[in-house]
Amino acid sequence: MARYSDELIDEIRSNNDIVDVISQYVILKRSGRNFFGLCPFHKEKSPSFSVSPDKQIFHCFGCGAGGDVIHFVSKIENLDFKQALEMLAEKSGITLPILADAQDVVKIKMKEKVHKINEITAQFFHENLYKPDAKLAQNYVKMRKLDNRTLQTFQIGYSTNFDELYKMLKREGFSDEEIMASSLVGKSIKGQFYDKFKNRLMFPIKDVQDKVIAFGGRVLDDSKPKYINSPENIVYSKGRNLFGLNVAKKSGKDKIIIVEGYMDAISLYQRGITNVVASLGTALTEAQGRLLRKYASQMIIGYDSDGAGQAATIRGMEILQNLGCDIRILQLDGEAKDPDEYVIKYGSR
Ligand code: UTP
Ligand code: MN
Repeated sequence: MARYSDELIDEIRSNNDIVDVISQYVILKRSGRNFFGLCPFHKEKSPSFSVSPDKQIFHCFGCGAGGDVIHFVSKIENLDFKQALEMLAEKSGITLPILADAQDVVKIKMKEKVHKINEITAQFFHENLYKPDAKLAQNYVKMRKLDNRTLQTFQIGYSTNFDELYKMLKREGFSDEEIMASSLVGKSIKGQFYDKFKNRLMFPIKDVQDKVIAFGGRVLDDSKPKYINSPENIVYSKGRNLFGLNVAKKSGKDKIIIVEGYMDAISLYQRGITNVVASLGTALTEAQGRLLRKYASQMIIGYDSDGAGQAATIRGMEILQNLGCDIRILQLDGEAKDPDEYVIKYGSR
C-alpha cells in the first residue's frame, strides 16, 4: 500500500486542531489544562473523555480509547487511517498528491523499461540497415525508392536472422521478464528465447510524443505473412495510435490524410506530402478519430481502392462524421492500387 509522507501527515495534523475537530462531535468543557466531555465511543453518564490541547491527543478513562486527531476521526467516522487523513486534508484545504499503490508502481516501472527497450531496439534495427551484411534489405529499400532522409525520419530498420536482438538486450542489462513484456522476443517450449522479427524491414510505430510503442516488419520478398506487427501490450494499444502521427502533427496543416499502410504514409511523406498517417490495415477506430481531431479539422481518407478499402472508407466516414470532422475522400485516378503506387507512378501533384 502506498502511503502519504510523514511530513504531509504532520502538516495535516497541525492544521486540524484536535479540540476544534472533536468539538464538532462532542460537547467539551474546559477544566484546567484539558477539556472534558461524554465519551462518544461508549455509553456513560459522567464525562471521562478528555482532550489535551497541549499534547493534541484524546483519552477516555472509561473505555481506554485514545490517540491523535486522525485516530479520532477514523474511529468516529469509521474510516481507515488513510481515509481519515484524506477527510482532514480536505477540511483544511490541503491538496494531497495522487498515490500510486505498489502494483501501479511496478507497472509504471515496467512500462518505462519497455519504452527503453523499444527505443534501443529501433536504433539497433536502424543501424543494422547500414551494415555490409544487410545487402538484401538495402536492395529492397532501393527497389521501394526510399531515400536516406526518409529512412532516418521514420527510423526504418532491418531485423537480421540470428536472434541478435535478444542477445543485445541482455547485454544492455534487461531481464527476461522485461524483454518478454516488450513482445519483441518469444520463448520456445524448450525455454529458448528467439527474436520474433527476422529478416524483415522494420518500421517503428511511435506515439505523438515520439516514443516507440510497437513495430511492424515487412518481408523482403513475396512470402507470407507480408507484415507482422507487435501485439498489444503494456505500452501498445493498436486502436489508440496511428502510424506517422508524430511526424504528421508537425506539418502545420489543418488537414490529415489517412492511408492504410506504412509504405503509403512514408512514400507520400518523401514526396512532400507530410500530413499523412496510417491506420495500419484496420478500419479507423473512434479513439483514433478523436486523437486525429486534436490535430486537424479536415480528414482526407485515402484507403486502397479494393473492396476492403471501400468498406473501411465508409466505416471511417461514419466515425469522423460523428466527431464533427470535415471529410474528403481521396480518389486515385489511373492504374494504382494504393497511394504509394500512385505517387511513384504519377508524382505528388
Ligand atoms: P497492404 O496489403 O495494402 O500492404 O496492407 P501495403 O501497405 O500496400 O504494403 P506494401 O506496399 O506491399 O509494402 C496495408 C497495411 O495492412 C497491414 C499493414 O499495416 C499494411 O501496411 N498488414 C497488411 C498487416 O498488418 N499484415 C499483412 O500481412 C498485410
Ligand atoms: Mn502498397
